[in-house]
Amino acid sequence: MRVLLGWMGPLLALLLLQPAGSMGRCPSPPAVDHADRRPSYELLVGSTVTYFCRHGYMLIPGVSPTTTCLTNFTWSAVPALCQMVQCPSPAIINGRVTSGEQDKYGVGQQVEFQCNLGYTMWGSQKTQCWSDGTWKPPLPYCDKVCAPPPLITNGQHTGVRTELFPYGMEVKYSCAAGLSLIGDESIYCTSEDGVNLTWSGPAPVCRGESAESQRGQSTRRSPSSPRPSLCPKG
Ligand SMILES: *[C@@H]1O[C@H](CO)[C@@H](O)[C@H](O)[C@H]1NC(C)=O
Ligand SMILES: *[C@@H]1O[C@H](CO)[C@@H](O)[C@H](O)[C@H]1NC(C)=O
Repeated sequence: MRVLLGWMGPLLALLLLQPAGSMGRCPSPPAVDHADRRPSYELLVGSTVTYFCRHGYMLIPGVSPTTTCLTNFTWSAVPALCQMVQCPSPAIINGRVTSGEQDKYGVGQQVEFQCNLGYTMWGSQKTQCWSDGTWKPPLPYCDKVCAPPPLITNGQHTGVRTELFPYGMEVKYSCAAGLSLIGDESIYCTSEDGVNLTWSGPAPVCRGESAESQRGQSTRRSPSSPRPSLCPKG
């Protein structure tokens, strides 16, 4: 102990020449780019100071945002802590950004989208880059839809108030009172080529009372919906 103190003598003397406040303390912690720290008056050896990234910046993953006052009255080294918040590219499939396009997207930047022809948007047309690096609301997506189902004379279908006809959607036709429905009562949105969407068959037609007009009805592949049984057994 005596030997150690002796060895430390010059150092202690040096320290004693400094203002009293610096005894056993570190100086103000180092400034870090794009970061702030809580004001701290306890800068004693062993104390730790935590940094916070400023608005628009986020902590680089894996780094510790702290520094510690070491026994030699310096602060432990602080690496770069904060990086600018960047949202991922807002590219969407079958659609594009129509406004706000940039090379990089920082906090607060807004973009708007439009779907390609023949596609309909699900989700929000406008979104914004948030401080956590995500788009809110989430990016929309563009899905193919069937065109509105065909209208028929003297009849109607169940989709008149519907705007979007996604894959699998079915509409049912009905005829004005007294008329017979010729063809499939329902058609549904499907795909024949695995790419474009189309209705499963032509719309039925409504004809006058007589069953005579049923001639010429073509047979097509049956829709997914169960057909009413024409020949109930028993
Ligand atoms: C203080 O101590 C640390 C860790 O022991 C060392 O890395 C650093 O270089 C020292 N600083 C000075 C100024 O001696
Ligand atoms: C799908 O529709 C588009 C536009 O009508 C057409 O250009 C394209 O060839 C169609 N795709 C297939 C596989 O038929």
